[in-house]
Amino acid sequence: MIILGIETSCDETAISLLDFQKGNLAKLLANVVSSQIKIHKKYGGVVPEVAARQHLVNILPTISFALNKARIKSKEIDIIATASGPGLITSLMVGVETAKVLAYAWQIPVIGLNHIEGHIYANILANGKLAKIEFPALCLVVSGGHTELIYMQNHGDYRLVGRTRDDAAGEAFDKVAKLLKVGYPGGPMIEKLAKKGDSKAFDFPRPMLNYKNYDFSFSGLKTSVLYLVKKEFQYKKIPLTNLLASFQQAVVDVLTEKTVRAAKEFKVKTVMLAGGVAANQRLRQTLEAKIKKLGRIKFLKPNIQFCTDNAVMIALAGYFHALNKNFTPWQKLKADPNWELV
Ligand code: KG4
Ligand code: ZN
Repeated sequence: MIILGIETSCDETAISLLDFQKGNLAKLLANVVSSQIKIHKKYGGVVPEVAARQHLVNILPTISFALNKARIKSKEIDIIATASGPGLITSLMVGVETAKVLAYAWQIPVIGLNHIEGHIYANILANGKLAKIEFPALCLVVSGGHTELIYMQNHGDYRLVGRTRDDAAGEAFDKVAKLLKVGYPGGPMIEKLAKKGDSKAFDFPRPMLNYKNYDFSFSGLKTSVLYLVKKEFQYKKIPLTNLLASFQQAVVDVLTEKTVRAAKEFKVKTVMLAGGVAANQRLRQTLEAKIKKLGRIKFLKPNIQFCTDNAVMIALAGYFHALNKNFTPWQKLKADPNWELV
């Protein structure tokens, strides 16, 4: 079964082609991400109108490039899976309308998928095989727009355990990066600089760590960075790397501690990590080590290239819907910018 994955919910025009075969084999035929980072860099963030226009320019050439890369013809595609929400409405519409037109023209089924479900399913592809999620499972979703702990009883069965009450983890990285002018996109730039710093140099608050729930809060942490910079930075010439390493450590500590606690309380068999911030090595290593310490819990993490937005994750999530013939009639497929998975 060959699935064409389409992802245009923010600023990446992404196309994938995966061939799912018996024995849980999944051959990655093509994974193309046409990035707009250079375009949005000068504005310090994604400009929705610009992103949508760029998706329009990119989408058909990207599909054509992916087909050439995979060395297949369009008639070999069995199913189209597209992210249809949440995200920027005008960006989503480009992927969704393209999926509809192609499904109609090629007379094949289409599935509209939740972008966050895609991030979760990025966990299951490893070395051309589909890893088995042992249920119940827990997934820490950390992206630019979401920070959530999601409990899964089965495929497609999601329950919210906790979420951020203000900024998402990725948003905190991006805002601190902007504040300190360390470059765009914020998360990867902070990680790079933090590697050279001392994570114990500053004792930033660990927001909501001692609350008896699984919610998060990152806006206060960002404000602490701001106050520290205003108070001391200019005078004492504190190394920027120490400041960033300490900030990153505070975020990682809260995320890992609450995930570990939830994994214990809900007696899960698998813990997963998803979203753009899942690319952060400090977070990956810390969480993996702590989960392994608990014993007998399977830990899955996405391959680094499938953490930030991509279309492989969309095809992977689409596969499980396709197995249940859970298709979306093309007439009903619609971009839904506020679609909440749970
Ligand atoms: O999942 P994603 O690509 O897009 C959304 O769905 O939001 O996540 C993007 C977010 C951005 O906030 C970016 O700064 C963050 O993920 N990010 C990172 C790293 N790579 C991306 N944050 C920390 N460390 C990283 N290495
Ligand atoms: Zn995303």
